Amino acid sequence: MSRAVTISGYGPPSVLHLEEVGIPAPGPHQIRVAVRYAGVGPTDLAVRAGHLDAVFPVRPGGVLGFEAAGTVEAVGDEVTDVVVGDDVAVHLPGSLGGYAELVVADLWVRRPSGSSWTVAAALPASAEAAVRGLALLGPTKGETLLLLGGNGSVGALATQLAVAAGVEVITTVRPDDADEVTARGAVPVDYHQPLRDAVRSPVDAVLDASGRSDLEAAVALAGGPARVVTLSDPRAGQFGVTLSAPDPATVPAALAEAAARVEDGTLTVREPTVAPLRDAAEVHTGLEAGTLRGKIVLQP
Ligand SMILES: NC(=O)c1ccc[n+]([C@@H]2O[C@H](COP(=O)([O-])OP(=O)(O)OC[C@H]3O[C@@H](n4cnc5c(N)ncnc54)[C@H](OP(=O)(O)O)[C@@H]3O)[C@@H](O)[C@H]2O)c1
Repeated sequence: MSRAVTISGYGPPSVLHLEEVGIPAPGPHQIRVAVRYAGVGPTDLAVRAGHLDAVFPVRPGGVLGFEAAGTVEAVGDEVTDVVVGDDVAVHLPGSLGGYAELVVADLWVRRPSGSSWTVAAALPASAEAAVRGLALLGPTKGETLLLLGGNGSVGALATQLAVAAGVEVITTVRPDDADEVTARGAVPVDYHQPLRDAVRSPVDAVLDASGRSDLEAAVALAGGPARVVTLSDPRAGQFGVTLSAPDPATVPAALAEAAARVEDGTLTVREPTVAPLRDAAEVHTGLEAGTLRGKIVLQP
């Protein structure tokens, strides 16, 4: 058995409850992990509310959570790259389930050496999305990338990866965040301004890591939708833009890339805020109200 935060149905944060759940043995290609910390991101809020039922369905009694870090406590027969006792970070786009003491995972990476447990738990979903988004766009040295939401969990990582590759990054942020993104080598613009006024010159590519931007203006700035990727804007199809979601086939390589960039110092992951697992509902409430910002990790 495992204590986990289950959902009693789609709805407000009050649908989340801490309870005991059964936990299966890992399948042949899976591992079971004793969770130290589980990441909470904005996608979790949308899943809980039922907005993503078509992509990430969760039935009553199901457990939220796209990412976690912990210690391997059982491995499937076909698993060869980790053994019981190894420290890993897991990405769970297929099954979710991170908000728990124990989770069965299909996709993992070793905890980057030198990174804290909290950072390891905050890494998988954001870093995988940052690596994937940039891979889809392929910005090269000297090109200009417009990054919408450059001081979010995904945006901060995408900025660092792009700047390290010699890409010029212009990013939309709240004015309070301007110094932080400037320190990462990006040019901040105020997201309250109309995008066409804030970014006056054409750009080569756009990565939307905000989900709340003017996608139509972004397409115009990029000269068309071919090199525009959003991670969450449901209007993507309307503008011919790619809406990118995790692909289990490419997740392991993206996680390995992110972990390597953490280890070689290219990527610095902000320390997330820690909350007890039992407070998952309060964390969702705080994120929705804007009284909490950034990545939160739950501690079982
Ligand atoms: N498809 C995928 O695989 C995938 C994976 C991870 C995340 N996502 C999605 O990607 C988005 C970002 O995730 P995250 O974890 O980075 O979230 P996050 O940490 O909350 O970051 C979002 C950022 O966007 C900023 N923002 C808010 N309104 C904006 C606007 N109008 N223009 C530009 N920026 C604005 C926020 O600033 P404030 O703090 O000032 O509000 C914040 O810095 C979310 O929609 C999430 O659901 C998708």
